[in-house]
Amino acid sequence: MNRSHLIPICLFGLWLVVTSVAGLSVDVDNICKKRAISTCSREYSPCSCTDGNVVCDQISVADIKIVFSTMPRHDLKSVKIILSPYETEPIPDDILGNVRVTSIELACVENSNLRVSNYAFRASSESVRSANIDGCNLSQLDFAFMSDMNKLHNLYIFRSIEFISFQGLPSSPDFKLMSITGSSQFLALDDTPVNLFGLEILYLNDNQLDDTEAAKLIKSLASSSVESLIEFRLYNNKLTRIPDMLLSLPNLKELSLNNNQITLLSTNSLAFKGPISISLGNNNIRNIRPGAFGSLKSMGTFVTIRLNLNKFNRMDSNVFQTVLEGMALAGEGSLELGETPITCDCSLAWLIRDSRHLLKHVFYGKCLEDSSDFADTNLERFSECPTA
Ligand SMILES: *[C@@H]1O[C@H](CO)[C@@H](O)[C@H](O)[C@H]1NC(C)=O
Repeated sequence: MNRSHLIPICLFGLWLVVTSVAGLSVDVDNICKKRAISTCSREYSPCSCTDGNVVCDQISVADIKIVFSTMPRHDLKSVKIILSPYETEPIPDDILGNVRVTSIELACVENSNLRVSNYAFRASSESVRSANIDGCNLSQLDFAFMSDMNKLHNLYIFRSIEFISFQGLPSSPDFKLMSITGSSQFLALDDTPVNLFGLEILYLNDNQLDDTEAAKLIKSLASSSVESLIEFRLYNNKLTRIPDMLLSLPNLKELSLNNNQITLLSTNSLAFKGPISISLGNNNIRNIRPGAFGSLKSMGTFVTIRLNLNKFNRMDSNVFQTVLEGMALAGEGSLELGETPITCDCSLAWLIRDSRHLLKHVFYGKCLEDSSDFADTNLERFSECPTA
């Protein structure tokens, strides 16, 4: 939209406000701001601008600062700064002058170092909702440049390396989503907890995390948000066990741990209060101990438990009976066992012979012996089994 269209829209908004009756008011300021934000009202060269999105592709940070330094205050949707691998200076204070942006993207070429001065985006401290960091070596990054971003909602870090510390991230109740994916090298991380008490969603998938690295990240990022976290992704990593900290998250509703190297589910390791959905598909789970999902008295409710593509072949009543009875009671819930065939001997009589009403909560359950579905398997095979 070009500028000549802007004025009639703002005037129209004003007319609405003036003529609106109580209960039907229209925010003229918002209408004008939204329109203004999706335009490129100045000359941003050598950066480019499309629909209010400015991209500075390997322009020196000193030159970017010069471009913005003479501009009056206005709003842009986003700025993307792709740092040159030869950049020698940190992103300086007030690099965008008085210009305010809603979204900031900082990208590096060849994992070069990202360095940002504490007041680099000062004018945008009340406007930034989303920040992205892509492809950077973070060993020299101080997140203090984000401390005053009170409206920040999402932070996405992709394909980055050498995480040292998260100190400086904004501790505002609006900061809801933190995502680190496709990244590596967390061993030097300072695991002192950062204050993220509003965080609801934490994505740490696809990072090749081992147990030690995962524990450090979780301690640093989740310690202060135990009450607020509702979704946690840890899939596509190299975990061999369930991280201990997870159980202290009372409001967790979605936990994905699929595609790791977990071999054992120990007693109480998944004793969540629920209601929760847990994905544990495609691990190496060979052994599930009694009470892995909690014991009788303290059992929570499970919406979905995905155990597809694992290596165990027994389904003991002291692990699964209370889980399935909880689902039956709730009238919904599923335990998925795709490609994880179970030995249909007397150890499964409790389910297939004695508790057939629970079978509708078991999905893809098959007998190892003949690949028959649990529900269709011949009950004669249990005729010699003792009754519980
Ligand atoms: C990351 O940056 C630090 C500091 O410049 C450097 O010592 C380290 O070698 C870099 N790491 C990689 C993998 O390039």
